[in-house]
Amino acid sequence: MAESPFKPEILRGKVALLTGGGSGIGYEISLQLGKHGASIAIMGRRKHVVDSAAASLHSLGISAIGFEGDVRKREDANRVVESTVKHFGRLDILVNAAAGNFLVPSEDLSPNGFRTVMDIDSVGTFTMCHEALKYLKKGGPGKDPSTAGGIIINISATLHYTASWYQIHVSAAKAAVDSITRNLALEWGTDHDMRVNGIAPGPIGDTAGMSKLGLEGIASKAMEKMPLFKLGEKWDIAMAALYLASDAGKYVNGTTLVVDGGEWLSKPRH
Ligand code: HXC
Repeated sequence: MAESPFKPEILRGKVALLTGGGSGIGYEISLQLGKHGASIAIMGRRKHVVDSAAASLHSLGISAIGFEGDVRKREDANRVVESTVKHFGRLDILVNAAAGNFLVPSEDLSPNGFRTVMDIDSVGTFTMCHEALKYLKKGGPGKDPSTAGGIIINISATLHYTASWYQIHVSAAKAAVDSITRNLALEWGTDHDMRVNGIAPGPIGDTAGMSKLGLEGIASKAMEKMPLFKLGEKWDIAMAALYLASDAGKYVNGTTLVVDGGEWLSKPRH
């Protein structure tokens, strides 16, 4: 893992809440936001995962806490947001990284299976944004009223830019996430001085997305057509999150930053 090119204090004094922040890409973002000065709250469905992620961050000197919760339940979203603010006194950054996924041909996918992923990825993202707004907005509790409002980062994907085999539910869900990003950027950017952006990771090594989707075996094939000829690292996504969460990205609002080495737009050379 390369050294971070960012100064270690760029997020000093900030508080970040990450859904799905206990493992995979979400954990790496938790780690890097924490290493750059933010206090970290992690929300996830599995208590042992969020607790052990928070303990790992603690062991590195990062102020961190885990909260069990399911983004599909509004009462969980509300409880975790309130607990985060109770614990750390404020909320500056929300990262929506919780996601559900499985490979299934459309003809074998039940409407409830489709709805389940929509509920986690799309409705869950909106629910978290909605519950966090009163703390994220400019002048929210614990904040200096003269500073800008908070930041939201929604983790998306690139698979809905074209079409992806056996991913109809995730494609639809991530397209909705991108739409949520743009609409909240417009409304909350204007009304609350907030920035709402997304990150669309490409194939990232050592993640649930790669192993669950059986992509590890075909990764070498993907590399043949990738302009940068390699898989991404979780670190690459975390650096994009740092850029968007810090003042480096202060003029960026409503965009979903593709971090994939150019993979989605490339075709095999023949
Ligand atoms: C077909 C399936 C299925 C499968 C579940 N369902 N798994 N259908 N194939 N493999 C259907 C069920 O039959 C059911 O519909 C409905 O979905 C709900 O299933 P449950 O098991 O009750 O849901 P739940 O326990 O809430 O689990 C949610 C989950 C689960 C999404 C199904 O897999 C999950 O949360 N996984 C962990 C998160 C995860 O995968 N993270 C990695 C994300 S990677 P019926 O009709 O039977 O009731 C990622 C990358 C995206 O997002 C980009 C990649 C390029």
